[in-house]
Amino acid sequence: MTDTDPRTRPGTVTAVAPSPRPATAPDGTPTPAYVYDLAAVRSAHARLRSWLPEPSELYYSLKANPHPAVVSTLHRLGCRAEVSSPGELGAALEAGVPASDILYTGPGKRDEDIAGALAAGVRDFAVDSVHAVDQLDRAAALHGVRVGYLLRVNPGGGSRGAGLRMTGDPSAFGADAEDVRTRPQRYTGGDHARIEGLHLYLATNIADEAALGDSFGEAIEVARTLCQAVGRPLRTIDLGGGFGAPYAREGELPAYPGLAARLTGELDRALPGWRHHAPTVAFESGRYLTATCGRLLTRVLDVKESHGQRVVVLDTGINHLGGMAGLRRVPPLHPDVVRPDGAGPQDAGRTSTTEPPGPAMICGPLCTPLDTWARSRPLPAVAPGDLLAVPNTGAYGLHASLVLFLGHPAPLEVVTDGGRTVRSDRLTFVRRAEP
Ligand SMILES: Cc1ncc(COP(=O)(O)O)c(C=O)c1O
Repeated sequence: MTDTDPRTRPGTVTAVAPSPRPATAPDGTPTPAYVYDLAAVRSAHARLRSWLPEPSELYYSLKANPHPAVVSTLHRLGCRAEVSSPGELGAALEAGVPASDILYTGPGKRDEDIAGALAAGVRDFAVDSVHAVDQLDRAAALHGVRVGYLLRVNPGGGSRGAGLRMTGDPSAFGADAEDVRTRPQRYTGGDHARIEGLHLYLATNIADEAALGDSFGEAIEVARTLCQAVGRPLRTIDLGGGFGAPYAREGELPAYPGLAARLTGELDRALPGWRHHAPTVAFESGRYLTATCGRLLTRVLDVKESHGQRVVVLDTGINHLGGMAGLRRVPPLHPDVVRPDGAGPQDAGRTSTTEPPGPAMICGPLCTPLDTWARSRPLPAVAPGDLLAVPNTGAYGLHASLVLFLGHPAPLEVVTDGGRTVRSDRLTFVRRAEP
């Protein structure tokens, strides 16, 4: 039910090579249900790797989708894991990622979070301030180990074309680049935690290749300046990410065909040893790797006329998708609701009524008027019980939603691989007494 071709809308993507459409869930799947197709994860990974300069490492950011099957698939493909909470650390370990492949990031870590990560064997952290350097040094001393960290840096500029700019303004993220440049000794660490690299994450969700190249170009230049200021060889320069992806709408992953060549040239000039891992260059992605693997299946609960408008109530809403849209963490939600076989509204085919397609107000089931997906969107004729799907919801779906609000069960999560269901499970929330 696109109102315009998604490929022509600003901020969306240009299709180059089609990625496989996730398989249709088996008939009778209880809804609401997220369906993640691992073949689509593999395809997205191959596509992203093809845009990156070599040699480089790629971190999968679990915040996009920490489902163990997704995480273990990406780890088997060579991704390391970027986690930023005890829950994400647990998900990475449960998925079989060894602690030595985990980078623990985040601007505010409790002492017990760091202690738990150290106990689990994590030795790579990203820190965001002078206090965080001291905190990590103390924690490592208490634990009797030595750790390395990437110093996250907040440069002065900002990235053009970013969906969500992460730096350049006052922020919890990173130390000001200028302070690191002029007073590097504040950031190089103590006896147990030592600086081993830089972490630059300037922006996210950039579909335009030139803008993404500019963002990485800025990161490389900052890294060059700060490597000189720190005055000791650094093991890793994590240039972050910013790779775009369609969200809850039809569309393909963006293509960046010239990115690797551009970054190779810039890295050769700024960090000449990078081709021999001196330093190792790393990238991060959440949404590019997982957005297109997922669909949210939903059934129509009710259809009615309200003051002259058709109102369609679905069995899923902001508790399962898009709950963070209002917080700018994910794009505003204007979902495409389509037939699960991918047919558009005009191909609606099987309908339970003779009602013609037309605009409808699309609502979730929650007892709040805020649970409105769209005030007026084209929708085929539907009736209670009809199955619909929201495409491209493999990233920032369930885990960026208001799951506890109003107490509905979490949706089923079904994992398929090329059409075969490999597992299905459901998160549950349990209140436990604490002393
Ligand atoms: C440090 C860091 N890494 C990775 C990501 C993942 O971003 P995306 O899903 O857009 O690739 C984010 C997103 O905010 C981030 O802050």
